[in-house]
Amino acid sequence: MSDLPPRLLSGIQPSGDLHIGNYFGAIAQFRQLQEEYAGECFVFIADYHALTTVRDADKLRASVFDVAATYLALGLDPEKVTLFRQSDVVEHIELSWVLASVTGMGLLERAHSFKDKINKGIRPSVGLFYYPVLMAADILIYDASVVPVGEDQVQHVEMTQDMATHFNEAFGEAVLRRPEYRLSPVPKVPGLDGEKMSKSYDNTIPIFLSGKKLKKRIAQVVTDSKSLGDPLDPDTCNVFALLKLFVQGEELEQLAGWYRTGARDGQPFGYGHAKQILAAKMDAYFADGRAKYEAYQNDPAQVEAVLKAGAERARSVASATMERVRKATGLR
Ligand code: TRP
Repeated sequence: MSDLPPRLLSGIQPSGDLHIGNYFGAIAQFRQLQEEYAGECFVFIADYHALTTVRDADKLRASVFDVAATYLALGLDPEKVTLFRQSDVVEHIELSWVLASVTGMGLLERAHSFKDKINKGIRPSVGLFYYPVLMAADILIYDASVVPVGEDQVQHVEMTQDMATHFNEAFGEAVLRRPEYRLSPVPKVPGLDGEKMSKSYDNTIPIFLSGKKLKKRIAQVVTDSKSLGDPLDPDTCNVFALLKLFVQGEELEQLAGWYRTGARDGQPFGYGHAKQILAAKMDAYFADGRAKYEAYQNDPAQVEAVLKAGAERARSVASATMERVRKATGLR
């Protein structure tokens, strides 16, 4: 196993209307990671995982397409990254069964994500309980050494490490490579209400919103009730926190100055102005990506071709791992 190169793997849940929290929390990191791990980057869209919640075939297919088109439009490079749809590589399921067979119930019962959902009153399916096993299979089947994650997924990678160890102990060989997680530095992205931006809080700003619709959405960002011309505090302002994502350096300093003095060039400056600037910056920031995204929407075959080529490459790696696993376990 030691002769394997470093290899990165990530899975993305398909969901419609990706928002700027997704962008700064994940998509933007990929642009760097794909350079660092060029040729050894596997990124898939987790449609098997999505089945634990989605009950609409057209919707699931559309979300998978949308995620793929969005990532490609925003700079994910299929020359460097193997991008594919999870269900195109059925071996994920086969390995998950083998892992389930060496995994104690207790390990899964300790999963935070599962406990959180139970506490919210969700009646769990077996699939929801089994989710970390499938996620472990996703990782282990590609001999991944690194899994970039946010805080909420750390435990899942730790469970993967446990499963790899249990498997290797049970079958007497280092068949599976033990992965490490890598916590991505993620900037704070407040939603419209100031809470963390999240689809489940309905407080998002979609990445490709533009023009009037974008202005309307940004108008909803919550601010305090200071009047036009009052000095404002950039450090506690949601609009400013969002501006920081799109504006840096001297330009940001200048904005902070307008906030603190409540004035710009001798004229009063208020939240309305800050929101206008935010809308204009965001509109421009994603203009190029938006154009590419629209091109993919008009030519879905292009996206399909990327996913198909990705699936072929992924399958060749996954089937080699399954061969080792079958040999080690006595299957086939
Ligand atoms: N559980 C991850 C999430 O909700 C998605 C995911 C599925 C994943 N399989 C994975 C992430 C494997 C990393 C590696 O975001």
